[in-house]
Amino acid sequence: MNKSILVLPGDGIGQEVTESALTILYELDRRYNLNLDVSIMDVGGTSYEQHGSPLTDEVINKAKESDAILFGAVGGPQWDNLPWNKRPEQALLGLRKELELFANLRPAFLFKELAAASTLKTEVIADLDLLIVRELTGGVYFGEPRGIEKDVVNNQGYAYNTMIYYENEIKRIAKIGFEAAQKRNKKLCSVDKANVLEVSKFWREIVEEVSNDYPDVKLTHQLADNAAMQLVINPKQFDVIVSSNLFGDILSDIAATLSGSIGMLPSASLNSSSQGMYEPCHGSAPDIAHLNVANPIAMILSLSMAFKYSLELPQLAEQLDNCVRQFISKGYRTKDLTDDDNFIYTNKVASKILDILDEFEND
Ligand code: IPM
Ligand code: MG
Repeated sequence: MNKSILVLPGDGIGQEVTESALTILYELDRRYNLNLDVSIMDVGGTSYEQHGSPLTDEVINKAKESDAILFGAVGGPQWDNLPWNKRPEQALLGLRKELELFANLRPAFLFKELAAASTLKTEVIADLDLLIVRELTGGVYFGEPRGIEKDVVNNQGYAYNTMIYYENEIKRIAKIGFEAAQKRNKKLCSVDKANVLEVSKFWREIVEEVSNDYPDVKLTHQLADNAAMQLVINPKQFDVIVSSNLFGDILSDIAATLSGSIGMLPSASLNSSSQGMYEPCHGSAPDIAHLNVANPIAMILSLSMAFKYSLELPQLAEQLDNCVRQFISKGYRTKDLTDDDNFIYTNKVASKILDILDEFEND
């Protein structure tokens, strides 16, 4: 059966960067007869404007029957004051939950030519290559009970969330972490707050238990505050980091900026049947939306991750990664990566990458 991709550009620069990835996708499909079945639908604020909801049932159903989902970005100030369930971010959270995309892979690596674009010293980040495995469908993001209420006795409002993890949720994400480490440098650092939170103490115990099945992987633990600091002081000590939903959210933003620009980093969110949603780590960046200056590389590399993890096209993934590497080596820079005016506009990136592919093919 043909593989299917659902493309959800979303809001802000999500639309521009998706356009670039789509240009590449269509061309690869044509060149290599991939016979991919591609659909494009609204999501986020754009969907709210068109259909009254950030995530329609049609999109959920289509997503469930697709092999891969390419997700741009959602959000924008014009939707900040909408009721909770209408906010664009709910689309992202809803898709993660509906498809049970519990394993979020966020690689952070540095293209050596971009070391100067990072705020950190070159020697700290040179050869950076780490992977954050973030639990994505549990923890405080989804725990019940949650709410904002009024305490009538004390006459003041209060709000609460629940940070909860079931054993099976910890086990399955820990396994993903160990397996990823086995394919890399065999080091896994589990991040928690076991000195304060019961849920973290439990997390640590379960991760220790799972580690018995992976004797070849060296397991360490770090507290989340220390891990945040270590990522900035000495990021190269890490190979794979595994963490809960909230800590992974925070650490992955830190890790992303180490690489020079958050516009470079892709991510994959997978369920247990290799179905996946692929999105850049950056958001919708409303301040630069529609100016044709966004960096589409994270989105293009997300497409590459989709080839690798959900579409059974690992060689194509490698080829596309090589083209992106070559694009950077040749000196092309989007606006986020350079101080001068000599940058390449968003809508010119895809055709340059395809030119590089031609060069590889003719070699
Ligand atoms: C991310 C984002 C999301 C999250 C937001 C937009 C809901 O920050 O994917 O890291 O918190 O998970
Ligand atoms: Mg985040």
